[in-house]
Amino acid sequence: MLGLRWNCSASPPSSRFALCFTKSSSSFALIPAPLRAFRASCWSQCSRSPNLVELEYADLNLKDFYGAGCQVGHVRIRQHVNPLSSSFVAPVKVPEWKQVFSNPSLPLMVDIGCGSGRFLIWLAKHFPESRNYLGLEIRNKLVQRSQFWVKELGLKNIHFMFANATISFEHLVPAYPGPLTLVSILCPDPHFKKRHHKRRVVQKSLVDSVVKNLSLGGQVILQSDVLDVALDMRDQFDARADVLKHIDALDANFTCDAQGWLLENPMGIRTEREIHAELEGAKIYKRMYQKV
Ligand SMILES: C[S@@+](CC[C@H](N)C(=O)[O-])C[C@H]1O[C@@H](n2cnc3c(N)ncnc32)[C@H](O)[C@@H]1O
Repeated sequence: MLGLRWNCSASPPSSRFALCFTKSSSSFALIPAPLRAFRASCWSQCSRSPNLVELEYADLNLKDFYGAGCQVGHVRIRQHVNPLSSSFVAPVKVPEWKQVFSNPSLPLMVDIGCGSGRFLIWLAKHFPESRNYLGLEIRNKLVQRSQFWVKELGLKNIHFMFANATISFEHLVPAYPGPLTLVSILCPDPHFKKRHHKRRVVQKSLVDSVVKNLSLGGQVILQSDVLDVALDMRDQFDARADVLKHIDALDANFTCDAQGWLLENPMGIRTEREIHAELEGAKIYKRMYQKV
């Protein structure tokens, strides 16, 4: 099976961070206990949000690369960009996949709006055999820093691209030689004002492209700390019930609350936005679909 799957031999998770990919396969399993204990002790010692991010990703040792001589450490970035501006309407050039991944026939995970890239780098470092990882991000400085980290860590299974994902996903993914098995859209920018909703990354064209390109058994993970955004994404993916089923309908190990939001984090690691939002007491609304 190409997509992610719960490892049924594992006992149900006791904490929301307990689920993760296994190293040996593309299925879920319990995250190693020492790593879990290490993270738990870090969280109890520290409550500042940036520090929590550092601690969540401590095993990547990215801090080592923040030195004074380093141009890409604490980058100053614009809070938001307008994806509808003329500079973002053209799709990006498809890369030579064999130049960016050592094995471009592996299954592919795409993280749309990957922000700092730490989340995807963590997955690529811990689960290198199972897939390649492609991060799409519209703020170029973040992409440059992510690529710097990838190079420093010597990872050959991950690539970040400066791209408007809403436009470029459809051009990039069909050109990839292997199967698309996982797409994540995690805490996308909310663009609260109704007149700005067309700036949101999840538009019908993107949903259709994800559904079309996803391999059978492939999965989509959505999350947001903003209920309105979560509902908007959910409505759009629920509308493709012809080919997508929510994971709790396929696998009894996944459970949802009464409103249909997943009770556990299926990724085993929190994104940066998730860490900040949870520190502020926000709920993270999660959905996970599988192509059938
Ligand atoms: C709130 S941040 C969340 C980042 C990360 N996924 C997380 O959960 O920490 C949303 C990210 O999506 C990026 N973004 C917004 N619109 C985008 C688009 N059309 N294409 C690619 N990235 C986009 C933003 O620049 C930002 O880095």
